[in-house]
Amino acid sequence: MIVVYSLGGSVLAAQDSAGLKRYAEKLREISRDNQLYVVVGGGAIARDCIGRARGVGASEALCDSIGILATRMNAALLAAALGGSAPFRVPESYEDALEASKKYRIVVMGGVSPGQTTDAVAALLAEYARADLLVIATSVNGVYTSDPEKDPGAVKIPRMKAEDLARMMSQIQLKAGSRSPVDPLAAKIIERSHIPTIVVDGRDVANLIRAIDGTHDGTEIRG
Ligand code: UTP
Repeated sequence: MIVVYSLGGSVLAAQDSAGLKRYAEKLREISRDNQLYVVVGGGAIARDCIGRARGVGASEALCDSIGILATRMNAALLAAALGGSAPFRVPESYEDALEASKKYRIVVMGGVSPGQTTDAVAALLAEYARADLLVIATSVNGVYTSDPEKDPGAVKIPRMKAEDLARMMSQIQLKAGSRSPVDPLAAKIIERSHIPTIVVDGRDVANLIRAIDGTHDGTEIRG
């Protein structure tokens, strides 16, 4: 299978060296039977830098490009932990990522262009690579009816249609560093290309494999 992971910065940037090695080891294990692409998010470092950039009057687009640098740094860290299993030079375009996949079973990259998040990069990469599955491994364990951090009545949705996800996510504000389980642009891309998508809690490294073998307890999105 060809699998694209969107590995949230909130998940990966929080890892120390031992944690990075655990993620690398799990990805290596999964790559024995699958071609993997991993798109890494920016996490707290991105949000901190974006906050300071906004504070000095940077435009939203400039804040985004600073966020992209943070995602690429996190990607380089994971690539380092993967040793020779992924290219050390983080691809900066979809074309370079596809090219790198001819030589490597795992390709790690960060953001690409302003106005989106790494979820959208992962969804677009899934289109380019004709992936069988997109896994959004983030810091919530699925898509909820409302924000579970704010609403105690929020309920997890085990299965949903891509068009319902797109409708739900379109109500979320698009701002540099803003938070949502799935970026609205990513949701639109998932809807148009019918890529089977799973949202799981990426903080538990075992969920990377559970998303593939169907034993996860996240949200399954179908076209
Ligand atoms: P993330 O993908 O990490 O966004 O990119 P996020 O919503 O904060 O996700 P988590 O918390 O890591 O899961 C960080 C920021 O980098 C910019 C955006 O400003 C985004 O909010 N970015 C990232 C882009 O502008 N374009 C990209 O392709 C990727």
